[in-house]
Amino acid sequence: MKITVNVWRQKDATAKGAMVTYPLESVDEHMSFLEMLDVLNEQLTIDGEDPVAFDSDCREGICGTCGVVINGIPHGPEVTTTCQLHMRTFSDGDVIDIEPWRAGAFPVVKDLVVDRGAFDRIIQAGGYISAPTGAAVEANNIPVPKVDADHAFEAATCIGCGACVAACPNGSAMLFTAAKITHLGLLPQGQPERDSRVLGMVEQHDAEGFGGCTNIGECTAACPKGIPLDVISRLNRDLLGALSREAIGS
Ligand code: SF4
Ligand code: FES
Repeated sequence: MKITVNVWRQKDATAKGAMVTYPLESVDEHMSFLEMLDVLNEQLTIDGEDPVAFDSDCREGICGTCGVVINGIPHGPEVTTTCQLHMRTFSDGDVIDIEPWRAGAFPVVKDLVVDRGAFDRIIQAGGYISAPTGAAVEANNIPVPKVDADHAFEAATCIGCGACVAACPNGSAMLFTAAKITHLGLLPQGQPERDSRVLGMVEQHDAEGFGGCTNIGECTAACPKGIPLDVISRLNRDLLGALSREAIGS
């Protein structure tokens, strides 16, 4: 396939960025999107130009580092991660726009790389348990209703990629935050810090400059792991309960 890519180039966090056009003469349809960028970077290196900076680690849809906006859609036209998107999704002659996540709380570091440290700080504000879990316990030793186990597992599949933020017109990270709160809040081990978790994580979410949720739903449409919007309802219920208990001092 012959394709043309328009790539956001930005030297560093303070430089002014711009889209730069590169033609690619020989792209295999079985390449992943990141392998196509690898080919572009080999070409740029041979030509003595600075390769395009982009993040990746697992290239298996697990680590959440690789996200970019492709033709205006976080992770591109398929419901998957950028690393799991393949060039067969596109057609010979296509022109593809590639940009970094656009969100105030995710500042651009270079080219397609953004700083997602805000997510780490939200997790530090409460996304953990303090119960000593020890070695893996015998299955079914701690009874958890199947419906709760399934919902907790679904929420736990969030890989922290940030596509929900990039897709949201408000730049909200509520889907991410709510997935973590739901995952831990549905399990017995997550109960001791349930109130402090939701209070701390929501406070940090707001302090990082993410916007508020207005139930638009773009986040869940862009999420490569299909995290449903109802996790945000659970966050809101937990938050109201924690604020009420805080107000009456119980
Ligand atoms: S909720 Fe979905 S889109 Fe948002 S960080 Fe988690 S996996 Fe990525
Ligand atoms: S490189 Fe790990 S999810 Fe894409």
